[in-house]
Parts: sequence; C-alpha cells; structure tokens
Amino acid sequence: MSASPSLVTFSAVVTRLRAAGCVFAEDEARLILSAGHVPAEIDAMVDRRAAGLPLEHVLGWADFRGLRISIDAGVFVPRRRTEFLVEQAVPLARYGAVVVDLCCGSGALGAALASASASGGVELYAADIDPVAVRCARRNVAAAGGTVYEGDLYEPLPAALRGRVDVLLANVPYVPTEEVGLLPPEARVHEARVALDGGADGLDVLRRVTAGAGGWLTPGGSLLFETSGRQASTAMGIVAEGGLEPRLAESDSLDATVIIGTRPSASQPVPDGL
Ligand SMILES: C[S@@+](CC[C@H](N)C(=O)[O-])C[C@H]1O[C@@H](n2cnc3c(N)ncnc32)[C@H](O)[C@@H]1O
Repeated sequence: MSASPSLVTFSAVVTRLRAAGCVFAEDEARLILSAGHVPAEIDAMVDRRAAGLPLEHVLGWADFRGLRISIDAGVFVPRRRTEFLVEQAVPLARYGAVVVDLCCGSGALGAALASASASGGVELYAADIDPVAVRCARRNVAAAGGTVYEGDLYEPLPAALRGRVDVLLANVPYVPTEEVGLLPPEARVHEARVALDGGADGLDVLRRVTAGAGGWLTPGGSLLFETSGRQASTAMGIVAEGGLEPRLAESDSLDATVIIGTRPSASQPVPDGL
C-alpha cells in the first residue's frame, strides 16, 4: 500500500521496504532517498520497489565496476559476478585493442572494459538483438566512443571487423529453459526472456557465438563468457570444438565461472560458422 507522500523519512522508507521483503532495506532506502527529488517521486519509487521491480530499474541505473550504468525498464541488470569477466579481459585489452561486446544488454561490460583499460584507447563495438537494450547501451558506451548495433549475434557488425577483434566479450543468456521459471521474480518478471533463456541446456546461444568467434577474432584474440559451474566442462568442450584454446577462471567470492577461448596465434582465418 502506498504511504502518504509526506511519509518518506528514512525510517518510514526502511519499514516499507522491509515489509516488502527487501533484505538490504537500509541501503536501498538511502539510494532511493538520494535519487528522488520530491516526496511524491520517492513515494512512487518505494511503491515500485515494494511491488518487486529490481532496485536498478527503480533507480534507472546500476553500479558496475564503479561506473554508473544507465538501466532502462526491461533491460538485463548487470550482475556483480560479471565484474570478474571484465577483470579477466582487462589484461587482454592493450592500447588500440578492438573490443566487441556481443549480447551487450546495457553495454556495461564494454563500457567497464574501456574505462579500465590503462590507456583508455580501445576501439569499442557492441551489439544486441533487443532494441530496448540497444537504446540503453548507446547511452552507456557513448563516453567510450563506442558504437552499438542491433541484430542477431554477429550479423549487424561491420564486415571490416572480421579477423580484427582482440577481445570478444559475450555474456550470453545461459539459463536452461526449464530453470527460467525458478529464477527470482526480479529476473523472471522484469527482465526480457531473451536475456535469460539459453535453450535446453543453457548453452544454445553460446554454441552459436563460439562457432562464429574464430572468423572475427584476430590470431591470439580471445572470447570471454560466463557459465554456471555445472556447465563449465561442456562449455570448455564447445570452445575447443570451435578451434579456440579454452581456459577456465573462477572466483569463489563472486561465485563466477568464466571461460576464455583464445584463437591460436598461428591459425588460419576460420570460415564464418554462423
Ligand atoms: C544475460 S544478458 C547479458 C547482458 C549484458 N552483457 C550484461 O552482462 O549485463 C544477455 C543479452 O543477450 C541478448 N541476446 C540474446 N540473444 C541474442 C542474439 N541472438 N543476438 C544478440 N543478442 C542477444 C539479450 O537481449 C540480452 O541483452
């Protein structure tokens, strides 16, 4: 139930958020109170959060590796664990590196990698099939001078990038179809299905990304993606079948599993596997 707009003191907001089941009610109250300009706006934000919207959709932004990433309604909220994927990519993004953020969602990964690269001099491209995500990503990668394309996987990328990509970030959907219904409502209800559903074993999109990666990576360039721990050995096999050398990186503290597939330095261009 909505409170009177005058009841937007810290403790009143905490009480409403806690009653709605928000575990970090104090932290969320602080963020909402600092984001809302007038009591009626704060009141409406608390209502939306209490109704189950992800906090990031209520605020309109998410913190990702210290960057404020703009998040529109329905767009996948970048997860804390995915910061580990970007961490693995940082040493691979030398000055002038060509970086592609495939399945970019809000564009958080590419924006964070561009901002973390010591020289700041990466050439950034991103793409997503969802027009709502593309619109959001365009705002987030603008600071890095990046370009965002709309379409299915590699299809919208300029052909001139073929064989030139040093770092291919691809946080694809990897939830098995049968498990989408088990996700918390914040994801299941408020994020697009296309952002979550990875097919029967969760690895369908990844198979397509891996099949095409060799044609876009430069020799020595790397594809980086996330899986669950359970999917990791199958995913390593898929990467090897795609002609890339797989390597596993794990973070216990972030509960993150990242696979890095590197195109051998001496390899011939791989035909487009899409
Ligand atoms: C798990 S979300 C990740 C978003 C972002 N990379 C992140 O980590 O915050 C997966 C994204 O893949 C996009 N996607 C799914 N299938 C796609 C396809 N065939 N081509 C391009 N993008 C796709 C979805 O729209 C969604 O934005």
